[in-house]
Amino acid sequence: MNKIIKCQNLGYAYNDGEIKTPVLNALNLEINPAESLAIIGQSGCGKSTLLNLLGGMDQPTTGKVMINNADLSQLSEEAITNLRAQHLGFIYQFHHLLKDFSALDNVAMPLLIRGDATHLALEKSSKLLSDIGLQNRLNHRPAELSGGQRQRVAIARALINNPSCLLADEPTGNLDAKNTQEVLGLMMELNQQQKSALILVTHDMNIAKKMDQFLTLENGTLV
Ligand SMILES: Nc1ncnc2c1ncn2[C@@H]1O[C@H](COP(=O)(O)OP(=O)(O)OP(=O)(O)O)[C@@H](O)[C@H]1O
Ligand SMILES: [Mg+2]
Repeated sequence: MNKIIKCQNLGYAYNDGEIKTPVLNALNLEINPAESLAIIGQSGCGKSTLLNLLGGMDQPTTGKVMINNADLSQLSEEAITNLRAQHLGFIYQFHHLLKDFSALDNVAMPLLIRGDATHLALEKSSKLLSDIGLQNRLNHRPAELSGGQRQRVAIARALINNPSCLLADEPTGNLDAKNTQEVLGLMMELNQQQKSALILVTHDMNIAKKMDQFLTLENGTLV
């Protein structure tokens, strides 16, 4: 079966000159279309590091990551960027919105980058933001939004290109119960209706249990 993401024998150590911090070790993971997976684990165990490797934002120290059967270590920086734009949606632990752009422009950005016509990109983005209750905040910049609103904009940005895999790093960490349900609903809808895979890092066991499976990251590997 076609795996959206597959990684083999993945190892990673941060290397700041003299100090080496090993984080991941001999980690294997596969995810199919329409599957959902929660990753849990203590603070500092390497969950964000793992998602960064899966999304091609960083290169592993050992082992390899494949996205749609393409081995990232064999691709140029530009090819990885294109692969990510085509197949992945990324929700960061800290929203990483562009501060000088409006909510609407932030959400439309992935579509504009891949070359969609501006008016279509803005129309689609405006509809998605309205669907998640932000119709009156389209022209606000991140600094003019609440923490939960920023996170919802970041989620809309990750969903806008209908990714085949969504990588989400504690996407509901800043949200109240109502927004958590809404955001979770959006992600699960994409997962179930569009058969996109979902890899979600969370500290919330109630959320983890809603996924098809959940794994714990411990001593650098998934158990
Ligand atoms: N740039 C860096 N240089 C050195 N060590 C780092 C760097 N970034 C992270 N680390 C270390 O790597 C480990 C894994 O960090 P990571 O951010 O992946 O953890 P996490 O599981 O996402 O934690 P949290 O639940 O708190 O978000 C941590 O112990 C951290 O101290
Ligand atoms: Mg983290």
